Amino acid sequence: MARNPVRLAIVGGGRGSAFLKVLAPLSDKIQLVAFCDKREELVGKWKEERPDLLTFSSYERLLESPDVDAVFLATPFTLHADQSIRALRAGKHVLCEVIATTTIEESWALVEAVEQTGLTYMMAENCVFTRSNMMVARMAHSGVFGELSFAEGAYIHDVRNLMHDAEGTLTWRGRLRRDFNGMVYPTHSLGPIAHWLNVNKEGGDEFESMTSLVSKEVANHHYFRELFGDNHPGADRDYWQQGDSAVALIKTKKGVLIQLRYDVKSARPMNATHYGLQGANGAFLAGRHQDEDPIVWIKGLSPGFSPHIPKEPKAKWESLWNYSESFEHELWRKWRNEIEQTGHGGSDFFVLDEFASAIAENRRPLIDVYDAVSWSSVFPLSVESVQSQGKPVDFISFRRNRQ
Ligand SMILES: NC(=O)c1ccc[n+]([C@@H]2O[C@H](COP(=O)([O-])OP(=O)(O)OC[C@H]3O[C@@H](n4cnc5c(N)ncnc54)[C@H](O)[C@@H]3O)[C@@H](O)[C@H]2O)c1
Repeated sequence: MARNPVRLAIVGGGRGSAFLKVLAPLSDKIQLVAFCDKREELVGKWKEERPDLLTFSSYERLLESPDVDAVFLATPFTLHADQSIRALRAGKHVLCEVIATTTIEESWALVEAVEQTGLTYMMAENCVFTRSNMMVARMAHSGVFGELSFAEGAYIHDVRNLMHDAEGTLTWRGRLRRDFNGMVYPTHSLGPIAHWLNVNKEGGDEFESMTSLVSKEVANHHYFRELFGDNHPGADRDYWQQGDSAVALIKTKKGVLIQLRYDVKSARPMNATHYGLQGANGAFLAGRHQDEDPIVWIKGLSPGFSPHIPKEPKAKWESLWNYSESFEHELWRKWRNEIEQTGHGGSDFFVLDEFASAIAENRRPLIDVYDAVSWSSVFPLSVESVQSQGKPVDFISFRRNRQ
């Protein structure tokens, strides 16, 4: 029987702090009881501001605490697999920030730990839970778009400032771009699409194969030269493995084509909300930026005809929100007014809500370990494909013990 409310520890005070805003409305389900970060000065700050919490600068010590039921891992993602497995083996449920794993070996080890412990593991992919992505999921699952054939997603967000500290020393994000070339942060663009296609779910689809290519490096070496001068190693183009724009094309077992783009270096305003979906009866397109409405055209419901019929009006896009009466997700209906202004347009709230609810109801969370590892496996598989000039690579089916 799960403890109610679940006693949670946040591990990692950067992204971890963002979740403070969404905890209050969920206090009957989940309660923050502890904070852990390896940076002593940050732990000291939390101690002062939140004397009600247990505080730890050692992750090992946190895992020994009998007063913590679950951890939220908001640490660099290169640590996620190891920290998740250790938490599960210590009897803690795990909510893990994206991405979950960086190698296939880590993925197998994580699946094994979840299967053996029977504890709740969820990956915190918040883009799945945005208002528009949840509404499109309902529409897709109800067959509004007809048989699906194509989906696209992109995560384009210039975060070069997070790749170094004030002196120019690389952070974990900078080291990743120095050492790998591929789609190394795939889940923001892929997660919602996987949800729409019911990937890994009963009667749903599965990723089959992928090909990936990356453009040349342009943005980082100019940026490092401007900021830190010619003598910084990052001022040399060849210092960086990662090119600017990575693309991947994924084919699913049911024949759907998924196109992904990832770029965290190019100079432009943020565009983290680019998605599209095409089915036999219509299509969805996200707004070009955060302030533009998402749009749809649905045969028989939206204005006009496609293809065009002489003397009849041409097909015309309309706002997705015209369909909120019928297809707004019930969670958004319930919580929208209260949470829309909280982290990432309210989506962080639903991540935490889903995690706590899955524990309380003793069920798999919406983004379970099989989703976490298959979505995250785009990282190593795309690196492999890029190394061989876009050669297709096969996905791995991690659900060997599926009941
Ligand atoms: N879903 C989203 O929208 C979103 C947004 C931002 C970041 N993230 C993810 O959140 C994670 C953290 O990102 P960030 O921007 O906060 O990174 P960050 O580098 O700013 O913060 C990481 C924190 O983890 C701490 N840490 C490192 N190793 C530790 C250890 N062994 N034990 C305890 N603490 C340790 C660091 O001291 C630091 O305070 C990443 O996985 C990132 O991908 C997700």
